[in-house]
Formats: sequence, C-alpha cells, structure tokens
Amino acid sequence: MYKIIDGKLIASEMRDKLKKDIAEYKLNSGKDIGLAVVLVGENPASQVYVRNKIKACEEVGIKSYAYYLPAETSQKEVEDLLASLAEDGNVNGILVQLPLPKHINSESALRLIPESKDVDGFSANNIGKLCLNSQSLVACTPYGVMKMLEHERIELCGKNAVVVGRSNIVGKPMAMLLINADATVTVCHSKTKNLKEQCLKADVLVAAIGKAKFITADMVKDGAVVIDVGMNRDENGKLCGDVDFENVKQKCSYITPVPGGVGPMTITMLMYNTYLSAVRR
Ligand code: GUN
Repeated sequence: MYKIIDGKLIASEMRDKLKKDIAEYKLNSGKDIGLAVVLVGENPASQVYVRNKIKACEEVGIKSYAYYLPAETSQKEVEDLLASLAEDGNVNGILVQLPLPKHINSESALRLIPESKDVDGFSANNIGKLCLNSQSLVACTPYGVMKMLEHERIELCGKNAVVVGRSNIVGKPMAMLLINADATVTVCHSKTKNLKEQCLKADVLVAAIGKAKFITADMVKDGAVVIDVGMNRDENGKLCGDVDFENVKQKCSYITPVPGGVGPMTITMLMYNTYLSAVRR
C-alpha cells in the first residue's frame, strides 16, 4: 500500500500557521513584511509564477512590491533596481523571477541581492552556508520537499537517497539538505552511466529532471519514497511530473502527485523565507 503525500494540504496548513505568525509579528513590531518581485520580459510561465507568488503574499499578509520590466531592460537598469531594493527598509525579501532575458547576465545581477534578502536561497553565501549546515535561507523547492518528508515523519538518517538532477535551484541544494539530514546521498544526471541501477538503490528517490514520466516502475525499489519535482506536459498536453505516477505508485511506500505535490510547497516556502528574513533582521 502506498500513501500519496498531499502537498496541497501540507502547504495550506503551513500557510494558515504563517498567516497567524505574520499577523503577530506585525502587531509586535508595528512593521509590515515586504517582498519585492521582479519580472523582466513576458515569459508566459514566469508571468503565471509571479501572479501566484503575489496572490500568496496577499493570502498570508505579506506586502508585495511588483516590478514588471520590459524585455529590453538593460543590465544597468536591472542592477540599479536591485541595488535600490537592497537598501529599501520596507523590503525584507527580493525575488527575481528566472530565467532573465538572454542579454542580462543573471549571475552578476543576482549578486546585488544581499544574503539576508535572498528569499530564493540562490546566492553564493546562502548556498555556502547550506553546505556548512549553518543557518541560511534555503531554496524554496528543496526546502518544501524536506518539510513534506518531515510532515510524514519519514526517517532519513542512514537511508539511501538518490537525487536525479543537478540544477543549482533544485538538485544541488536538495542533495545538501539530505546530507545534512544524515542520508547517504547519490546525485545522478544526464551523464550518469547506470541510472537505473543507481535509482534502484534509493530508499528515497527525488526526481528533478524536467522530462515527462522519465522515472518508470522498473527504476524504483519496492517500498521506496518517491518525490516528484517535475512539472511537464504529457503527450495529451496534461500536466505531469518526472515520474510515471500510475505505474510507479504501486511500488512505493509514499509518493507525491503532480499536480498537488511539491508544487504548492514551493510558494509556501517562499512566504516562509520572507517571514524568516523579517524575523532575523
Ligand atoms: N524560475 C523557476 N523556478 C524558480 C524559482 O524557484 N525562483 C525564481 N526566482 N525563478 C524561478
């Protein structure tokens, strides 16, 4: 028997708690909590993400400051905006929706976000602190996965965890968090030679690949916990993850669905990180 981990429910419980904590913070400090959201250009997926992030802010009581810049915005204009947000006392968190247009050097722009306002957890300092297992703002998607595992009381100490995908946003921070939780971690990627054999060793398998239904039942050990970070469209245009859910679920002890799994946790962790930035200031 498998259990479906209901990300929508866990996220909604977290947001209810957060809403109360934010109200209390505002009452005690007399201050608002502010999140600046910067979108450059008109990438349709980014527009949806940004809209959802702003809606989540309203829901939990965070003040959002949205900056919609045209695709032609120059490097200097983006950097000037980030430098001013870095100084702005009303802004606790700064989020630059990625990807930025090709003519913008993202790395140099993102460097202007101070560590304390880096609610995406993408800065070199925050990634470095995560590696050192010292307090940092942690990238929202992997942080959300950890909260889901914690919610289900899934033991990680001494377990074999396999992360498929090595992106800076998900795979690498996910691996670090699992190491910090005392799991034995393997990171696989597009050049891994014996992917199926590696996956079959996983007590906990995290798929962050970006390919529809890539993880099939023959790659999953009986009783494994399978976490699907993917967000793809299948051959019929239907939303699906990186895991072939219908066939894989039979082998699992726990599995996350798409939609309704990791997705709802990501934005919730962004709200949580923004709250943390305010509290730690
Ligand atoms: N683009 C895709 N995922 C993310 C994310 O988590 N944060 C930001 N800022 N941009 C993204």
